[in-house]
Amino acid sequence: MERGTALVTGASAGIGEAFANLLAAEGFDLILTARRAERLRVLSASLTERHGVKVSGIPADLADPAGPQRLYDELNEAGQTIDLLVNNAGFGGVGRFEALDQVRQREMIDVNVSALTRLAGLMLPGMKARARGGIINVASTAAFQAGPFMAVYYASKAYVLSFSEALSEECRGTGVTVSCLCPGVTATEFFETAGFGDLPLYRLGMMDAARVARLGYDGWRSGRAIVLPGLRNQVLVWGSRVLPRPVTRRAIRFLQEKSGAVT
Ligand SMILES: NC(=O)c1ccc[n+]([C@@H]2O[C@H](COP(=O)([O-])OP(=O)(O)OC[C@H]3O[C@@H](n4cnc5c(N)ncnc54)[C@H](OP(=O)(O)O)[C@@H]3O)[C@@H](O)[C@H]2O)c1
Repeated sequence: MERGTALVTGASAGIGEAFANLLAAEGFDLILTARRAERLRVLSASLTERHGVKVSGIPADLADPAGPQRLYDELNEAGQTIDLLVNNAGFGGVGRFEALDQVRQREMIDVNVSALTRLAGLMLPGMKARARGGIINVASTAAFQAGPFMAVYYASKAYVLSFSEALSEECRGTGVTVSCLCPGVTATEFFETAGFGDLPLYRLGMMDAARVARLGYDGWRSGRAIVLPGLRNQVLVWGSRVLPRPVTRRAIRFLQEKSGAVT
């Protein structure tokens, strides 16, 4: 079956890189984007060699409000349509809200929320017109409760979950599928970038990025609006749905304090 072309954001590392590997093996041609151009170049060459698919790397900073439109224009000029958008780029930051770099907090919203929304808005009309393809938005188990000491990150992921769920329903019956992938702790560069350092607590039960991507893709293919990869994450989310919100936010506070990342 002809798979078409997938655009993967945040493809230079972690879950995005795992999606790139998986989708190339599944026969998708790929457009990969992130800021680190050299990583994109090396990955693109390796995927083409291993899987015989067409892969292009387009470096872009999605914290720049003009980034998504620029990316879209570049694709448009090349006559490139997108069948699957994996809206994966994102990052977090741990610490007391007022002590964190406020510019970086705003950039977190720019990347995790604004760029993801803008890219969906730019790609959906073409998908709907062709009545095929869709979007995988990467949220997190963090989407299901408030997150003291990662306040903006958790809030950004709550947005992604709500937005994706609504889009998924709007697209039902159109041939376009929108899924929200909600990973729990996954072995990537995320924790280092977020400022956790080398914290053993977070390594407990970490999932492999390749497994997260596989479950996300399979969930999207089977038309699921929300995909929770792994039993542990399903249990955690079930817990946060049945427990009162004051309990879950205090539990997150306790875990963050225990982790040693917050002083
Ligand atoms: N790891 C986890 O435990 C976990 C759990 C739940 C959800 N998630 C979510 O999974 C997604 C992928 O994260 P990951 O775990 O794979 O982390 P990662 O290894 O740090 O990868 C993050 C990716 O996002 C890209 N990115 C960051 N800022 C960007 C910007 N301004 N413009 C363009 N690209 C940018 C990075 O590329 P460049 O640095 O090259 O730009 C990188 O490719 C994120 O949305 C994250 O919130 C992760």
